[in-house]
Amino acid sequence: MMNIRSAPAVRYEMVDGTALIAIDNPPVNASSHDVRTALLEAVRQAEADEAVDAIAIFGAGRTFIAGADIREFGKPPKDPILPDVNNAIEACAKPVIAILHGTALGGGFEVALAAHARIALPGTQVGLPEVTLGVLPGAGGTQRAPRLIGIAKALEIITEGRRIGAEEALEMGLIDRIAEGEPRDVALEMAEEVRQGNLGTRRTGELQVSPDDAAIADVSERLKAKQAHLFSPHKAVEAVAGCTGPLAEGLAQERALFRQCIESPQRAGLIHAFFAERAVAKIPEAGATPRPVAGAGVIGGGTMGSGIATAMLLAGLNVTLVERDEEALARGRASVEGNLAQAVKRGKLDEAKRAAILAERLKATTDLGALAEADLIVEAVFEDLEVKTELFARLDAIAREGAVLATNTSYLDVDRIAAATSRPQDVVGLHFFSPAHVMKLIEVVVGDKTAAEVVATGFALAKRLRKIAVRAGVCDGFIGNRILAHYRKSVDYLMMDGATPQQIDPALTGFGFAMGPFAVSDLAGLDIGWATRKRHAAMRPAEERYIPIADRICEEGWFGRKTGKGFYVYPQGGKPEPNPEVARIIDEERAKAGILPRNFEDDEIVDRYMTAMIAEAARVLEDGIAQRPIDIDAVFLFGYGFPRFRGGPLHYADTLGAKELVARIERYAEEDAHYWQVPPLLARMAREGTRFADMNEG
Ligand code: COA
Repeated sequence: MMNIRSAPAVRYEMVDGTALIAIDNPPVNASSHDVRTALLEAVRQAEADEAVDAIAIFGAGRTFIAGADIREFGKPPKDPILPDVNNAIEACAKPVIAILHGTALGGGFEVALAAHARIALPGTQVGLPEVTLGVLPGAGGTQRAPRLIGIAKALEIITEGRRIGAEEALEMGLIDRIAEGEPRDVALEMAEEVRQGNLGTRRTGELQVSPDDAAIADVSERLKAKQAHLFSPHKAVEAVAGCTGPLAEGLAQERALFRQCIESPQRAGLIHAFFAERAVAKIPEAGATPRPVAGAGVIGGGTMGSGIATAMLLAGLNVTLVERDEEALARGRASVEGNLAQAVKRGKLDEAKRAAILAERLKATTDLGALAEADLIVEAVFEDLEVKTELFARLDAIAREGAVLATNTSYLDVDRIAAATSRPQDVVGLHFFSPAHVMKLIEVVVGDKTAAEVVATGFALAKRLRKIAVRAGVCDGFIGNRILAHYRKSVDYLMMDGATPQQIDPALTGFGFAMGPFAVSDLAGLDIGWATRKRHAAMRPAEERYIPIADRICEEGWFGRKTGKGFYVYPQGGKPEPNPEVARIIDEERAKAGILPRNFEDDEIVDRYMTAMIAEAARVLEDGIAQRPIDIDAVFLFGYGFPRFRGGPLHYADTLGAKELVARIERYAEEDAHYWQVPPLLARMAREGTRFADMNEG
């Protein structure tokens, strides 16, 4: 994109001997090439100007520098690079102070660390979150932070990447003072404090740091145990470990390690995930005005309904929970209460607020008529088209004009549900993921007739619930479950042909998934998949290979965790073990089908699983169910435990290339031509040499 900004990225002003350097690079004052160039120039100008005796750097607008410009990562670095700018700030012969507000993160906080004193406005958050983007603080952070707060604390904040509030930062010694006011006023005031000798200044890089081998060993052990698959946290520890020698050497080593991180595929994956989280909000309906929502109705108090009600209550909405009888209602209410109690336990809610929510904002009733005034109603009843259409017909008669009528169906046809009402424009799918008060994703399923404001209302609601909404079209399973229904079969085929669940699960967690597919099935309840398979049996094409193993497990009454047995056995308080009976069932089914089991390497398992996922994702894209590849990536990152450092299935697909994927599918198709078909989109991409990423642009 062309840079059409005519305003300077940095403004320079002289007031009574103070050089005021304001970073002005909306929206977040990222330290882009323009900013670095102008900041360096401004510091040099102030240093050379005899009339200047103090220099203050602050942010214009809503924040100090919120970070390096992430969009520049992966492109060739352009001088001046941030480490050089920071070294010039630190070396400056005149006192340089940084006034922080908003979020001073990453490269932004490193600028502050190079200043000679740091003053934060109340509410400021600071931190070095680089590892969450697959890099490490590469502009002096790994050298200067330990000089201020010691190696142990520095390792903690750098490897966790968490944000630190002003008070805690002050206590730690990361900043020197908290002051109230507008950043420019505080800058002038603090410059005066420096002049008066009331605010001490010093060069961070000149401070002594005591070695702490124990802390380094501790963190290394912890990372090896918990984040062995991640690249940059380990490199960050290495960089911090080098801080006890001369600054220049430590900085040079930090730079080299930073470059390694920049080159790593994990950096590309994590940054893709960062942008995916934001890109999904760019929808055709973005210009429409969302309808105001103060009071919501939730129909159904099961796991989904009570989770949705909890999420809404936590976000400040009034909720009316409706169930069909008193018994179910009591269960639903108890489950919301349990969720809220959990939130208190996890420190997300205080006791007084919990009590107030239950007393004032949750209403539970068996009377559907109580939803007459609701602004938005989410239906989360039994997954059956007839049940849902009947309910929507009743809602049509009850809900006020303009109320948004949402269904939480995970597979069913939203258009048919909408057609049961006289106002299909008000009907939308809001597909939450279980547990709904925890999982981040909502698929906003847009029907043929859904009005733009209704779509916008779904997105606004998601934002309010601090969730990530992704726009999806109508089809069986929308984006996520349609793709899941397809690739889930690939592991059943692998199991039938020779791999075991206890080999497949670790192969996929080894790839980075939060859980393996068989452990997931056991957790979700095997009866759920069983019911779906029975429902779909009549529609199953004759050529489709069908693996009856899971059905046989269900026939034994083993539904996974909730019955203590499924693919695994779950001993009370003990670790899950493979269910030996499953091995017997697998053997029997193989024998019946005349299959001689063969050996699968872990890589092959991952390849088949991922190829199946990507193939169906390509079809979902081609069918227009998802707008862009990045929407599919977001669905899997935020709803399906896809490893964030791999960026999402289609980002990962680009690392393989369409040619390789087509070749794989053609190879697998020799065994099963019905399941393994090359999606036309992928074939075209292979011919043209294009990538999914190309479709995200524009
Ligand atoms: N570089 C480039 N662009 C950035 C950016 C960065 N460091 N940080 C944010 N942006 C962009 C976002 O992509 C978004 O762009 P869009 O409007 O085109 O989608 C825009 O700035 C606003 O960001 P958003 O996250 O939507 O705003 P927010 O107010 O919710 O949050 C921040 C602001 C700064 C807290 C958040 O953007 C953030 O955490 N950024 C990353 C900070 C970071 O990790 N810095 C360390 C890098 S070394």
